[in-house]
Amino acid sequence: MRKTITPGRRASGTVRLPGDKSISHRYAMLTSIAEGVSEISNYSSGADCASTIECMRDLGVKIEREGDRVTVHGVGLDGLAAPSKQLDAGNSGSTIRMLSGILAGQGFTSSIGGDESLSKRPMKRIMTPLQQMGARITATDGEFPPLTIEGAKLSAIHYEPPMASAQVKTAVLFGGIYVNGVTSVREKSQTRNHSEMALEALGAEIEYGGSTIRLKGRPNLTGRKLRVPSDLSSAAFFIAVALMLPGSLLRIEGVGLNPTRTDLLDVLLEMEADIEIQPHPDSSSEPTGTLVVRGPKSASTPVVRGGLIEKSLTAGVIDEIPILAVLGAASLDGLEIRDAKELRVKETDRIKTIAANLSKMGIKVEAFEDGLRVPGRQHFQPAELDSYGDHRIAMAFAVAALKAAGPSVIDNAEAANVSFPEFYDLLEAVVS
Ligand code: S3P
Repeated sequence: MRKTITPGRRASGTVRLPGDKSISHRYAMLTSIAEGVSEISNYSSGADCASTIECMRDLGVKIEREGDRVTVHGVGLDGLAAPSKQLDAGNSGSTIRMLSGILAGQGFTSSIGGDESLSKRPMKRIMTPLQQMGARITATDGEFPPLTIEGAKLSAIHYEPPMASAQVKTAVLFGGIYVNGVTSVREKSQTRNHSEMALEALGAEIEYGGSTIRLKGRPNLTGRKLRVPSDLSSAAFFIAVALMLPGSLLRIEGVGLNPTRTDLLDVLLEMEADIEIQPHPDSSSEPTGTLVVRGPKSASTPVVRGGLIEKSLTAGVIDEIPILAVLGAASLDGLEIRDAKELRVKETDRIKTIAANLSKMGIKVEAFEDGLRVPGRQHFQPAELDSYGDHRIAMAFAVAALKAAGPSVIDNAEAANVSFPEFYDLLEAVVS
């Protein structure tokens, strides 16, 4: 799909965005192996989370879905059935990496793969610890999907992931559900803790909050009602729209404000962005709140100051770097992002795809092996842009196109469906 984006003047109104992708995956997987029925509301509308539901159905779990309401008839820890075909994770790295932990502890063999982009993404990072637990996993060229996972009796391990990765931590913890004993993971820097919170909400004995997480194996998981907060990583695009268009005033309601996810807000506030955070007092499991974002007073006022994102901070905003790079070009001081080599193995090589699209808009950018430098106060020229099949690139550059002096086109714009199918409609609704 080719999408034409015309320049935007200002953003205003109130939006509620779809459910968080990371949390939706975890709720679907864990309620499937819990005892009893779970009702999940505000489940992510993205294709990635639909892939997770399909995988769980192929493993014999009855899951009903009506819009954003999902009812999961949990089968218990030992109730999954051998799939009759290869499980399809689609474009979703989270699905294949996290579900592998569960598949490793089953009494059957399964295989799981996905689309062309997923087939190039590294899996050694989860294979190594799961193999230490006793899992039998083979992969194309030793590290790429599809994976074939022969069910095995797993043992508890202590693992220290070499990189900051919630997916790796989760694969180990999900394998740890199937062991007798305590599995522990020590993180160098804290990553999103949605798996820990979901396991606890369903009744597992789990210790977390510090650098080491400890999960007691064979937990009694019990189904329950769960509500998914709106996705802060999707909200990031709307925050950026409001920050970039002068005179904007946008309220974004019901957003997930788990402190392990809010580095983006800290970074933007540090850069003097006008964002008011109103926490919701009755948030049950995952904290939520409303964001009120105000744009610059005039077209000549810079959007934010800019600065340097590096070291452990980079991991905390890794999904938001495409939109931060766009903001950087409109900032006062420009933005430099380092220690972001992980961007090279996301849905696309995001260092390459961000730099390619910025250049198409006439924006100066320097690409490094581990990041990017984007000078500030630049002019956005209308251009023919490309998502390269990457949802966050599609959305980041739709926002950039609003700043251009004339209409731009985004090729392969439908990539946004992977996490946020309503994106273009909502953008049109708030931007005048
Ligand atoms: C995710 C963790 C992050 C993030 C991804 C979702 C998760 O990946 O980039 O979009 O849901 O756990 P890594 O674990 O590879 O850092």
